[in-house]
Amino acid sequence: MGNIYAVTNQKGGVGKTTTTVNLAASLAENAKKILLIDLDPQGNATTGCGIDKPTLEKSSYDLLVGEASAKEVIVKRDDFSFDVIPTNADLTAAEIELLDEEQREQRLRLALEPIRADYDYILIDCPPSLSMLTLNALVASKGVIIPIQCEYYALEGLSSLLKTVERIKQRANSGLEITGLVRTMFDARNNLANQVSRQLINHFEKKVFHTIVPRNVRLAEAPSHGIPVVSYDRSSRGSIAYMALAGEFMRREKS
Ligand SMILES: Nc1ncnc2c1ncn2[C@@H]1O[C@H](COP(=O)(O)OP(=O)(O)OP(=O)(O)O)[C@@H](O)[C@H]1O
Ligand SMILES: [Mg+2]
Repeated sequence: MGNIYAVTNQKGGVGKTTTTVNLAASLAENAKKILLIDLDPQGNATTGCGIDKPTLEKSSYDLLVGEASAKEVIVKRDDFSFDVIPTNADLTAAEIELLDEEQREQRLRLALEPIRADYDYILIDCPPSLSMLTLNALVASKGVIIPIQCEYYALEGLSSLLKTVERIKQRANSGLEITGLVRTMFDARNNLANQVSRQLINHFEKKVFHTIVPRNVRLAEAPSHGIPVVSYDRSSRGSIAYMALAGEFMRREKS
């Protein structure tokens, strides 16, 4: 049964989208059936998967507001190793439209129920906020993957994310757990990065993935070609890191 994971951190630009797209692609390389859901109105994961945002007929917006089923919004393509539910700026409106709805935090969970069994893993790229969209992702998920950029402010905000996860566990999704924290854009020559990394391990122990994603220009270039790094430059350090992360993830989350 397809387990669902929210890739989230309300801090902006920490590598959520890069991690979602490249973990999805690396898991697919291991013959896993993967669905990536773009739940960020910025639609960076959508673009990074080579899907044109302005011409989208249906998106995760339609799914959340109940105007389309999951099957209708999934994009499958021959040149894709994984399926995608794309999005665009329309999704911003979903937040407001859902405000008056009953079970507004349950929308995504319910909408994904019919297609969960079609996948090994479903990964959700979240926006940089603890908004209704992120809450929907957390309520739908089994696990939370938290990308962390090891810099001075990295730990700030982490406690409110953890409190939110705890609150959702108590109220709406008792099975929710932190799957792991991923250190991203890591520069081993930077003392501060090493110091923050040690703090993370002291505090979160085994929850911190061993795999460290280095800063690698290939990871930043790949989205402009609309492909994951493993297709763009398979032997790059970025690609090797995300393949290693996929291996570690699968060992943790045997499905
Ligand atoms: N390991 C890396 N090495 C080099 N560049 C990276 C790496 N990871 C991410 N980037 C680049 O850093 C920027 C931010 O990454 P990304 O978009 O994945 O973060 P995000 O957390 O999804 O951002 P947002 O909060 O805006 O959604 C992007 O330009 C991306 O290409
Ligand atoms: Mg993003």
